[in-house]
Amino acid sequence: MCGITGYIGKKEALPIVFENLKKLEYRGYDSAGVAFFDFSGDQKLVKAVGKLGNLEKLIKDEKSLPTMAAIGHTRWATHGVPNEVNAHPHFDCKKEFFLVHNGIIENYRELKDGLMKKGHNFRSQTDTEVLAHLVEEYGFDLAIKKVIGAYAIAAIFKNEPQKIYIARLGSPLVIGVGKDGYYVASDPTALAGLVKKVIFLKDGQRGLLALNSIKIGPARPKIVPLEIDAEQAKKGKFPHFMLKEIFEGSEVVAAALRGRIFPQKNLIKLGGLEGVAGKIPKIKRMEIISCGTSYYAGMIGAALFKELANLPTETILASEYRYARDPKQNNTACLFISQSGETADTLAALKKAKERKYLNLGLVNAVGSSIARETDAGVYNHAGPEIGVASTKAFLSQLSILSLMSLYFGQTKFEKNSQTARSLMAELVRISAKIQLVLKQSEAIRSLVKKYAHYKNFLYLGRGYNYPVALEGALKLKEISYAHAEGYAGGEMKHGPIALIDKNFPVVALVNKNHLYEKMISNLEEIKARNGKILAIASIGDKAIAKLADDVIYVPETVEQLEPILNTVPLQLFAYYFAVAHGNDVDKPRNLAKSVTVE
Ligand code: M6R
Repeated sequence: MCGITGYIGKKEALPIVFENLKKLEYRGYDSAGVAFFDFSGDQKLVKAVGKLGNLEKLIKDEKSLPTMAAIGHTRWATHGVPNEVNAHPHFDCKKEFFLVHNGIIENYRELKDGLMKKGHNFRSQTDTEVLAHLVEEYGFDLAIKKVIGAYAIAAIFKNEPQKIYIARLGSPLVIGVGKDGYYVASDPTALAGLVKKVIFLKDGQRGLLALNSIKIGPARPKIVPLEIDAEQAKKGKFPHFMLKEIFEGSEVVAAALRGRIFPQKNLIKLGGLEGVAGKIPKIKRMEIISCGTSYYAGMIGAALFKELANLPTETILASEYRYARDPKQNNTACLFISQSGETADTLAALKKAKERKYLNLGLVNAVGSSIARETDAGVYNHAGPEIGVASTKAFLSQLSILSLMSLYFGQTKFEKNSQTARSLMAELVRISAKIQLVLKQSEAIRSLVKKYAHYKNFLYLGRGYNYPVALEGALKLKEISYAHAEGYAGGEMKHGPIALIDKNFPVVALVNKNHLYEKMISNLEEIKARNGKILAIASIGDKAIAKLADDVIYVPETVEQLEPILNTVPLQLFAYYFAVAHGNDVDKPRNLAKSVTVE
């Protein structure tokens, strides 16, 4: 979603701000712009629709100008179409104040009406422009107090060319503290390699960055180390971040388990949950709340918590949870899963759970993000930055940690893990190596895609632990290839979707050798009887499946609870090569944003 950058310091501001915008491209955007002051104090504003290359052409000459402070923005349209006028930075009537903004001003209509009555002239259809005129009318501090909604703001005033004003409420904003000056970004990824220390602005904090000073209040700012390695945010030898991140699957799973699992001692250690361990035995039910891929991870997590911790667990979409008229229940724990830690719906759901005084836990990848900070306790993925819009490595990491968390809940509640838990622990240790075996089939999957790339519709089927994998496989395909794909539970086929099956509607089926194997086979027989084409993901050694399916991708055998980890990898590769075959922009699919910071 929208990206903010800014710089004030000893170096030239404009090239820095532009380069940092490039690092935020992955978040998704449709237009971009910069505002800056040159050393003569002249303010400049440049905006362009489309990719950053268009903006770069316009600022080519400006880049050679010495600049002292600059702000930049990539916009993902919410209010008003993507055009130059609606692109940020926005400004007041007199062109004396420029700002970039992420978030949504919920009361913008009311504010705009009031400002128009006072004679302000609006040029764009955006909610952001209201802020510029509000500042003109009331000054920075008073203006932001009048706003209802969410914002992260970076702004410059014509009469204070050596300062950047900042503010945050609900949308992330991070300040890089460098030797040469101060950096502003909506996402710490943009600061990797530039600074070693950052300040994550808290809700309600405002500040002023100047050449040699920084003021942030009302709460005292906390300077923390930036835990992102610049190399992690590069593609390396891979053509796309998505492929790189799929190939990181094995390592992120190993990283998720490191120092947390001790099978010989039948023990799981999760430092992030130790502070709340005393509360776990009292927990009677769990709600897992998240969106998109993190929601599908949550569905698998719910099955794990039920089986391994004997804990009634529900999975709820964050966008539904926040408005649900559900009863408050005692002894409830909520688990919020989010790669970015900034998803607006998940944050809003967390707010509701906090009001209910539930025990709120987080499973978050982005260190220092809002969800990580706002929950009572939690576990980090430590999967490194995920740049591809389609979530891949984060999902595998989430599944590994959900196994650990369910085992941890089990051991904390019952003081000893069950035999099923012991087998799961033993297998978790082996799972990273098994992922590598699946990744070795990458080329074979690429060839297989040639047979399927012309189809426009797909049905993904799975049962038990593999039902959410079918949903995730279908989501991956539709996100980046724009083919229509639906995920279904195998047993539900006969209740509707079977009507779609014919020779032009292939089925991707998850048919591992588990306690539901025969049931899945019956579902596939029904498809074959209707001339449906089948691509099966099956266990190595299963000869029978080859007779039924048109094509088979084999994965190593594992315990049922971990089949989702191994099955997901070929589905990610299938979606990736499918999208590449269609010439799509895999890392930045149309209409999507990496971090969905608006409702
Ligand atoms: O950062 P989060 O995990 O909270 O994001 C949730 C969804 O927006 C995200 O998983 C989305 O569905 C991805 N595009 C999936 O690939």
